[in-house]
Amino acid sequence: MNVQENISLKQYNTFGIDAAAKYFATFESIAELEEVLNSKLQTPNSKLILGGGSNILLTKDFDGIVLKNEIKGIEVVNEDEDHIYIKVGAGENWHQFVMHCVQHNYAGVENLSLIPGNVGASPMQNIGAYGVEIKDVFYELEAFHKQEKFIEKFSLTDCDFGYRESVFKNKYKDQFVIANVTYRLNKRPFFNTSYGAINQELERMGVKELSIQAISQAVINIRTSKLPDPKEVGNAGSFFKNPIISNEQYLELKKAFPNIVAFPSGNDHTKLAAGWLIEQCGWKGYRKGDAGCYPKQALVLVNYGSAPGKEIFDLSEEIIQSVKKTFRVDLEREVNIIF
Ligand code: FAD
Ligand code: EPU
Repeated sequence: MNVQENISLKQYNTFGIDAAAKYFATFESIAELEEVLNSKLQTPNSKLILGGGSNILLTKDFDGIVLKNEIKGIEVVNEDEDHIYIKVGAGENWHQFVMHCVQHNYAGVENLSLIPGNVGASPMQNIGAYGVEIKDVFYELEAFHKQEKFIEKFSLTDCDFGYRESVFKNKYKDQFVIANVTYRLNKRPFFNTSYGAINQELERMGVKELSIQAISQAVINIRTSKLPDPKEVGNAGSFFKNPIISNEQYLELKKAFPNIVAFPSGNDHTKLAAGWLIEQCGWKGYRKGDAGCYPKQALVLVNYGSAPGKEIFDLSEEIIQSVKKTFRVDLEREVNIIF
């Protein structure tokens, strides 16, 4: 265990925010994590568990200890006629795990290709894209309770997954460190091409016979065409969630804004495209200093170079206020704000 002091976190967050951590350590096992937690460095209420740093916004220097999870390992732990069960260390890179599955013909995560970050964060907000969410392939996970120092298993129902939600963002917020996740993948693929853009891309690619490899490549192509690469422009993907409102409120909005982009969400609710709402308020392509709203996708806020996290946060606040004023809809941040 090597604890560093006063280091810049710029390379550890995809927004590229140059905030400092008072202490910084990595851990490759729960035993190593316990060692750090038991050391004299621990400062109450100021521990940040870090994966790939692709869903956080640091608003200032972090006056505590940042603990980067580097627990590794990909292991087939069980198999039945239809499924393969793979246990993956929280510190494994998500996209590399997806590529491992695609190469071995384990189906289920191909639609989630190219999502940045690590395996350990995938259940935190039930990552999702192109018609699939982690809950569709999740089997169980093991997590360590930081305060009480025990390891607990969580099943699918224990995690209480919802749209960009889980028990770890709510009831157990900041309590557990996810050590590993077991996914249940399919030996026989169920192709999910329900998201319109996938079919269009498969057609453009000239794909005659569907495969998980082709779907993965189609998703990679779509994502590269509209989302900024954090290596070039700092960002954390969608900054806000797509708001879910009652069908009643939606019908009122539709009268006033006939072009509003929306999708059914269960029987009684409608999900609005937040990108559309933000674009209509005139923010798409906006830039003030190095903080901006991405010109190709209004839901993504960006750091063009050296924006302080506070400026990105302030921009997000202005966007929330203007969407509220124009549409009377509340936007909720998807990115975890570190104050
Ligand atoms: P971090 O940013 O390191 O952490 C996120 C949160 O989880 C923090 O609160 C952290 O404390 C906590 N955490 C991390 N690891 C652990 C652990 N092991 N135990 C306990 N807590 C932990 N997300 C989607 O859902 N769909 C997308 O399509 C998508 N596209 C994106 C595109 C781009 C270009 C970018 C930059 C981001 C995108 N994201 C997307 C968001 C992000 O990739 C995911 O939320 C990802 O799962 C975050 O992983 P991470 O390891 O980087 O988490
Ligand atoms: N739109 C606009 N203007 C914009 C952006 C979007 O009008 O600037 C409208 C378009 O009509 C478009 C629709 O919104 O068809 C939906 O846009 P898109 O397909 O890009 O998806 P999204 O709803 O903006 C969500 C997720 C993404 C995920 C994609 C694909 C959330 C908050 N975001 O974005 O996840 O990759 O769908 O499934 O649910 C992330 O969580 O970080 C993320 C990138």
